[in-house]
Amino acid sequence: MLVPGASSQALAAALAAELGESLAAVEYDRFPDGETLAAVPDFDADAATIVASTASNDAYVELLQLQDAVREAGASEVTTVIPYMGYARQDKAFEAGHPISARAVARAVSTTADRVVLVNPHEDAVSEFFDVPVDIVDAAGRLAEPLPALDDPLFLSPDSGAIGIAETVRDAYGEGETDYFEKVRHSGTDVEITPSDADFEGRDVVITDDIIATGSTMSEAVAVLADGGAKRVFCATVHPLLARNARTKLARAGIERVVGTDTIERDVSEVSVAPVLADELER
Ligand code: R5P
Repeated sequence: MLVPGASSQALAAALAAELGESLAAVEYDRFPDGETLAAVPDFDADAATIVASTASNDAYVELLQLQDAVREAGASEVTTVIPYMGYARQDKAFEAGHPISARAVARAVSTTADRVVLVNPHEDAVSEFFDVPVDIVDAAGRLAEPLPALDDPLFLSPDSGAIGIAETVRDAYGEGETDYFEKVRHSGTDVEITPSDADFEGRDVVITDDIIATGSTMSEAVAVLADGGAKRVFCATVHPLLARNARTKLARAGIERVVGTDTIERDVSEVSVAPVLADELER
């Protein structure tokens, strides 16, 4: 039985359809003091697959509640799919006295899950923080599907770390070159992008990244491309977090269109990761 987290309901439904499995009725409630309650009143199965992105603290608590609830209801096998793993970027103690937050949440999830499936986590190494087996799914190729016909396309990552995503999207699109810029992050919202010698004048450019959070990385990269005479600039991201004023930053930078998946359900989630998750779960 598929069990949706509150913020992954459309994806869980799409995945249930792909797998031909039933979707549990889930109730999400909140007490007057702000505490959440996620429950599965009619759950009746030996195995549960919970699908819950954790883009907020509440989502993490709800996930732990759902894992516990299905155990209480008799599930002997629990697979937890985390399409977007929040806190994955806090994968080290950045200063003395800091926690390794990704490890803290991974350990909590591991207490009541038998297996975890992650979609394009910020770093694959976060899988080592879980105490149960973890499978990683690469859904970046799905981002090619909604792209229009492109003129002499360049698939560009804003830093060298995301070049693999650019290559995967290019391969799925079927043609085009890849390149990357250099990025220095000064703070959570202050990012400096240095152009490479990538040839983008007069070409359609698709900037690819795993996450758009504050939109600082993308908007700075778009500004460089606009200054250098790129034709149209598209942003393609697996996880369209779009926090704070990210949309305004991107609009002001002159972006043609943002394309994202439904690991985080937003209006730009034009393509679903359900088929690649179904492939992984059916293996
Ligand atoms: C960082 O290394 C990630 O790949 C993204 O580039 C980053 O999370 C984007 O964050 P923001 O939108 O806040 O610049």
